[in-house]
Amino acid sequence: MTVKILVATQGGTADLCAQEMVDVLEERGFEAEAMLMGDFGPEVFDEGGQFIICTATYGYGEIPDNGTEFYEALVSDKPDLSRVSFAVFGLGDTTYEDTFNFAGQKFDAILSECGAERMVERHIHDANSGALAEDEAIEWIGGWIAATESRAAA
Ligand SMILES: Cc1cc2nc3c(=O)[nH]c(=O)nc-3n(C[C@H](O)[C@H](O)[C@H](O)COP(=O)(O)O)c2cc1C
Repeated sequence: MTVKILVATQGGTADLCAQEMVDVLEERGFEAEAMLMGDFGPEVFDEGGQFIICTATYGYGEIPDNGTEFYEALVSDKPDLSRVSFAVFGLGDTTYEDTFNFAGQKFDAILSECGAERMVERHIHDANSGALAEDEAIEWIGGWIAATESRAAA
């Protein structure tokens, strides 16, 4: 089953991270696809499966514009996501200390509230740290793969 990476971005960094994750996943034998959030609604979860949310934070702790409608639909519809597994890769900047990484936090909370299973802990990237988000994405997806494989072997 294809691992779907749902991307909310304004400047493109989250999309770059998602593309890097797709490359790593494919090298490790998974089918994977990066999808921009503005292109679908919560029906993307209808058949269940494995999802990664890759989101930046904007405004005052808001979801990027292309993901706002998707997020708000989840909050209002509260679909049953008991057949969904998810993990969140959040991008942010501690310069915005009061709202640091809020979008990742919001997605993590709503998916969990809808009954989806969290595969690994949310990643919190800080653009102010000097570390490249894409490098952290490559490392983090390695942890996701390890968790998924050990789950499958159990
Ligand atoms: C106008 C603006 C507002 C931002 N607001 C926040 C914020 O509230 N909290 C946060 O953690 N990061 C904030 N950021 C940082 C971005 O989330 C971060 O730079 C991220 O890597 C951008 O990813 P993108 O290129 O995929 O859009 C903001 C950046 C900009 C330019």
